[in-house]
Amino acid sequence: MRVNHCGEVCAQALYQGQALTAKSSQTTAILMQAAEEEMDHLAWCEQRIRELDSHVSYLNPLWYAASFTMGAVAGMLGDRINLGFVAATEQEVCRHLNDHLEKVSANDDKTIAVMRKMREDENGHAATALEQGGMQFPKPVKSMMHLVSKLMTRTTYWV
Ligand SMILES: [Fe+2]
Ligand SMILES: [Fe+2]
Repeated sequence: MRVNHCGEVCAQALYQGQALTAKSSQTTAILMQAAEEEMDHLAWCEQRIRELDSHVSYLNPLWYAASFTMGAVAGMLGDRINLGFVAATEQEVCRHLNDHLEKVSANDDKTIAVMRKMREDENGHAATALEQGGMQFPKPVKSMMHLVSKLMTRTTYWV
């Protein structure tokens, strides 16, 4: 759950960064809408972590800053790449959520409910981004993103 929470911190930061430098007001609106839903996700994860008597990642401020910067850079590259980045990120997030859903105890209804709802929203974010003209990133770029996300999830799992 700590990893999911951290992911939501990053998602929010990314989208805020991306919204800041987005070229069209429509893209900004899409990003802000998504960022708002990520706020809900963040709150749900945080509550679930508290219920499980654990703590959020100590590295969150660091991830937030890095993600915000990355988002702002993606925004500067134009809306097609910017929205494509949203789609690729969300696809990666869904992949992670699917993995986690397989590992989580079948009795943990609360966690499962939160994650299912999140997955639904993230799928929506990816679909909207593509509909609005986001590009499909080439395979190597996606593999690269998968690698980075693996690194982040592994670290956050422990701290
Ligand atoms: Fe999310
Ligand atoms: Fe999302």
